[in-house]
Amino acid sequence: MNDKYKSVPVKPSEITPYSQYLSRREFLKAAGIVTGSALLAACAPRGTESAVPAGEAEIPSAPGKTDELGDAVNSFKDITNYNNYYEFSTNKEAVAPLSEKFTASPWTVEVYGMVNTPKTYGIEDLLKKFPQEERIYRLRCVEAWSMVIPWMGFPLANLLKEVEPTSDAKYVRFESVYRREEMPGLKSPFYPWPYQEGLRLDEAMNELTILATGLYGLPMPNQNGAPIRLVVPWKYGFKSIKAIVKIELTDKQPATLWNSVAPNEYGFYSNVNPEVSHPRWSQASERRIGELGRRPTLMFNGYAEQVAYLYEGMDLSLFY
Ligand code: MTE
Repeated sequence: MNDKYKSVPVKPSEITPYSQYLSRREFLKAAGIVTGSALLAACAPRGTESAVPAGEAEIPSAPGKTDELGDAVNSFKDITNYNNYYEFSTNKEAVAPLSEKFTASPWTVEVYGMVNTPKTYGIEDLLKKFPQEERIYRLRCVEAWSMVIPWMGFPLANLLKEVEPTSDAKYVRFESVYRREEMPGLKSPFYPWPYQEGLRLDEAMNELTILATGLYGLPMPNQNGAPIRLVVPWKYGFKSIKAIVKIELTDKQPATLWNSVAPNEYGFYSNVNPEVSHPRWSQASERRIGELGRRPTLMFNGYAEQVAYLYEGMDLSLFY
């Protein structure tokens, strides 16, 4: 893999107080990022073991942090207040308040289907077992806006290798939690819930594909898909499914929510491609949240060097 995509260890000085379903300390401990109390000294009064109450939390900042193209990361405020999460609302600004009381712990992820060793993991097992790293990725939404997000997480390949897909497995299907009592958007009859997504197995095994458990060095906020969501940076944002409870290995191309709703608008692949327009708008440019004006959209969202080989010989206007 290209050096510029190597993961960056999280520096304690870049983490500022905030609390979520796990305290920051529990999260970092579980993630194996730090075990001693040194970290806490950088961002909490000496001797403080617990998280700062949410009401008093500082908004984390990441001065000078950029992706490998030199683009600055978006603010924590933008990343956590402008969200697509239809289980809560179709209004991007309503997701954060509506998801505030969502229960992201306890949580299990079932990995099953065409694998030698099916397994159900508790979220804490995943944090302990797979070292968490920071990945700064661009997220390009199909609605032609984008953000740069400093995720925390681990390669999906690490998890898949552990359950050992059989030689018949060709695809991976992901399913989000379905909890009507906590997710008001699920009442909408227009969508075939639960939200589901899929990848070809080689896409899932690509080094860029991660399961994200946090952002800005903090546990994943509810509105961004707590406690664990997929991030596939070269595909439109809707492939990056939130609040995952099931991962199934299969030999059949999985149905996906958006492909079921509008097959002529959303294909299975959904690679970012400035040359293939959405039937209702162009994909040639995008608005970076926080910027004025527009910027050109890059093929595979700028990750062509890492992923173009996956689609050699395919007509991407047919496999959109
Ligand atoms: N996952 C679920 N379960 N439900 C959703 O509505 N929206 C998708 C994706 N994952 C969605 C989802 C879309 S359209 C986008 S652009 C991204 O999440 C947005 O991620 P963000 O809110 O963390 O920026």
